[in-house]
Amino acid sequence: MSDLKTAREWIRSARRVAALTGAGISAESGIPTFRGSGGLWKQFRAEDLATAAAFARDPLTVWEWYQWRRELIAQCTPNAGHLALAELEATTHFTLITQNVDGLHDLAGSRNILKLHGDIWRLRCTTCLAEWTDRSVRFAQFPPQCTCGGLARPAIVWFGENLPDGIFEEAGHAAKTADVFLVIGTSAQVYPAAGLIPEAKASGAKIIEINIEKTPFTSLVDCALTGSAGELLPRLI
Ligand code: OAD
Repeated sequence: MSDLKTAREWIRSARRVAALTGAGISAESGIPTFRGSGGLWKQFRAEDLATAAAFARDPLTVWEWYQWRRELIAQCTPNAGHLALAELEATTHFTLITQNVDGLHDLAGSRNILKLHGDIWRLRCTTCLAEWTDRSVRFAQFPPQCTCGGLARPAIVWFGENLPDGIFEEAGHAAKTADVFLVIGTSAQVYPAAGLIPEAKASGAKIIEINIEKTPFTSLVDCALTGSAGELLPRLI
């Protein structure tokens, strides 16, 4: 049997499936990844744009970068990979764990999504900590503010920050109870997210990786499918 056929069988007979997605699943929608060629962290310094210290120092520069990314993402639509995962949710007990902040899984129709790194369309007040959704591509006032007058920030988990309350516990539960754990389009270098892969493996899940390149976990997974998520996921699901 081909790897793809075997993996398809595992998914078909699984009671619970979970997936961890990363920037690679949105690459075919036109959103740059972080670490590959043309990756955002090749052109920009994370220390200047994605830390609480950078925002405290220079909120305008940080907001301009997020504004640029919001404009770019607003022009993108889900691809066949996102749609296949939304379909999986309709037919299986499925938990989607994503590191992506672009909202394309939501647009594809997935509902049960654990967003480990937040959401680029959500804002949080740095004063009263209120959170809200704002999908506007241009803010009426820049940088955006809360109704309390406090400065708003993107509700994204920056380097050195904790994940939103309880979310990693939920993701860990999904990883530990899954019969099949899919690892899609992530370089698996950022923790704690990458730690879910050995956690799922140790609890007995079959691990299926989809990536165009090798990752630190490729040699540990049960099935490594080399290719793009937009092409492979519809064939797998
Ligand atoms: P990376 O940019 O580190 O990795 C993207 C992965 O996707 C790489 O392993 C690529 O080989 C793979 N890839 C690219 N195109 C693909 C395609 N069409 N199909 C399948 N795979 C493809 O992105 P992440 O692993 O998501 O944090 O990065 C993790 C976190 O680091 C991000 O969430 C972000 C970043 O700093 C925050 O924004 C908080």
